[in-house]
Amino acid sequence: MNILLLGSGGREHALAWKLAQSPSCTKLYAAPGNPGIAEDAELVTLDASDHGAVTHFCATNGVDLVVIGPEAPLVDGLADSLRAKGFAVFGPSQLAAQLEGSKSFTKRLCDRAGIPTARYFEVHNYNEGGKAMTALGTGAPYVIKADGLAAGKGVVIAGYNDEARHTFIDLFGGDGETNTTGAKAVVEEFLEGEEASFFVLTDGETILPFGTAQDHKRVGDGDEGPNTGGMGAYSPAPVLTPELQQRTLEEIIKPTVEAMRAEGMPYSGVLYAGLMLTADGPKLIEYNCRFGDPECQVLMMRFAGDLAAVMMACAKGELAGVKGEFTDDTALTVVMAAEGYPGTPEKGGAIDLGDAEAGGAKVFHAGTAMKDGQLVASGGRVLNVTATGANVTEAQKAAYAAVDAIGFESGFCRRDIGWREVERERDN
Ligand code: AMP
Ligand code: GLY
Repeated sequence: MNILLLGSGGREHALAWKLAQSPSCTKLYAAPGNPGIAEDAELVTLDASDHGAVTHFCATNGVDLVVIGPEAPLVDGLADSLRAKGFAVFGPSQLAAQLEGSKSFTKRLCDRAGIPTARYFEVHNYNEGGKAMTALGTGAPYVIKADGLAAGKGVVIAGYNDEARHTFIDLFGGDGETNTTGAKAVVEEFLEGEEASFFVLTDGETILPFGTAQDHKRVGDGDEGPNTGGMGAYSPAPVLTPELQQRTLEEIIKPTVEAMRAEGMPYSGVLYAGLMLTADGPKLIEYNCRFGDPECQVLMMRFAGDLAAVMMACAKGELAGVKGEFTDDTALTVVMAAEGYPGTPEKGGAIDLGDAEAGGAKVFHAGTAMKDGQLVASGGRVLNVTATGANVTEAQKAAYAAVDAIGFESGFCRRDIGWREVERERDN
């Protein structure tokens, strides 16, 4: 089959790398792609927000399957436009993508389907925000989440204080009862526990567990500093024991997929549940309607099946009987970012990949460009240096050996990706 992959980050490089290895993939196009993806796919210039241009490309190039990497085109309804023209798509419809696109949509769905999540109030102005904090009755901290896509920046954890006041004023404008921006937000209780990510593929009916991972959201070692899109990840996440995975499936994923289908918005694609493992069991922090970035990189490093065939089965509603084949290895990825990230990153820094891949590691490109024959940084997260091992300790060693082989003077990375699990492995 001929496949068009949309996106340009490390997640899409990992998908392109696996799709190119798929026995069922004849030809892989990627738009816009990046210099890493160019090794696995033919890059084409296409604007994902121009649905007509994408469907036209698919029609004229005999594309059988479109794989949509990032959330924005999904929330924008690109999958619907393509399906309306008869193309198979890996990724949810606009209505189903609300699971990521709208916090209040997801919280209400959790209410209707009895899914464990943080208790919350929907708020529309400054006064409601303050009242919600009091009404939760938990004491500080509280979590304030803007509705809508925010690239990991829409969440503020604050007390009943100036930070919360400023957050509400930024969100809603004015003060008191007014709302000059049209924004919505939720205020929810702060959940204590360890975070983990759980992935499933679903065609709206069948649910295929598709791996676990743990991300590192803070920019600095020891989980210090501001939130980022993710500075590193590993898979599997042993903290999600088989028992906790089963509970997550029964208590969170199944009720979601069933409610979406029953309400006429069947979910098709990958569903990524961000979980807090609390003393009372797993609770849903958020849903994403796409693979995690950089979690996808570690999942693809371990995936041993025919990705194109699995994605096509998902797109066609034929997931029943399909297996998720993964190796027993642990994969770990370290994000090399450009100085300044998650603020304004320094662009244009030269990169020399050296022999980073000599020991079996894989370097996925996340934000790179070619300039006058030189590979340079062109985004905040630049490279995802990914390796495998028998456990997290071994995978971490291999990944940092590859990091140390790379020349990237204007870049930095965390040196402790996997630390929780490395500590547990040492104690066992
Ligand atoms: P989100 O964009 O919903 O994934 O939130 C970003 C990050 O904020 C999460 O990865 C958590 O670290 C944190 N967070 C979000 N909601 C909560 C919550 N209810 N309790 C504790 N931490 C949270
Ligand atoms: N790494 C977190 C995310 O993709 O949302």
